[in-house]
Amino acid sequence: AIERTFSILKPDATRRNLTGAINALIEKAGLRIVAQKRVQMTRAQAETFYAVHKERPFFGELVGTMIAGPVVVQVLEGEDAIKTYRGVLGATDPAKADPGTIRKEHALSVGENSAHGSDALDTAAIEIAQWFSGNEIVG
Ligand code: CMP
Repeated sequence: AIERTFSILKPDATRRNLTGAINALIEKAGLRIVAQKRVQMTRAQAETFYAVHKERPFFGELVGTMIAGPVVVQVLEGEDAIKTYRGVLGATDPAKADPGTIRKEHALSVGENSAHGSDALDTAAIEIAQWFSGNEIVG
């Protein structure tokens, strides 16, 4: 089915001027960027976004990494978008990611792994709603 997923191009990607290279991989996979904006996350926004990881030992590092510089938040649309985008991203740890994936080609480490993608339809809807109003998404 046609789905929408939420994506973040993380500060390590904006810092190294890789947003275009990553968007090329997204579009090559058949996903359409139906909303996109560059923002500086506040600490509170990052904590809300990653609330599910609050108890993890890496939570502080995760939030710090996400507010270290601007990010690009996106809505991606396409067939099976959640799974398709997870495939394009590759494994969370770039050392374990397949060749040709965003993380294998561009990521620096598990923490600075260049991009985020929603893991399920319900979380995608919640994540999209945190960053975009309906009229900002143009399919
Ligand atoms: P993301 O898809 O944004 O979702 C949660 C993030 O936590 C994940 O990508 C990683 O960047 C980060 N993460 C997961 N495990 C670790 C870890 N061991 N140390 C630091 N960051 C981590």
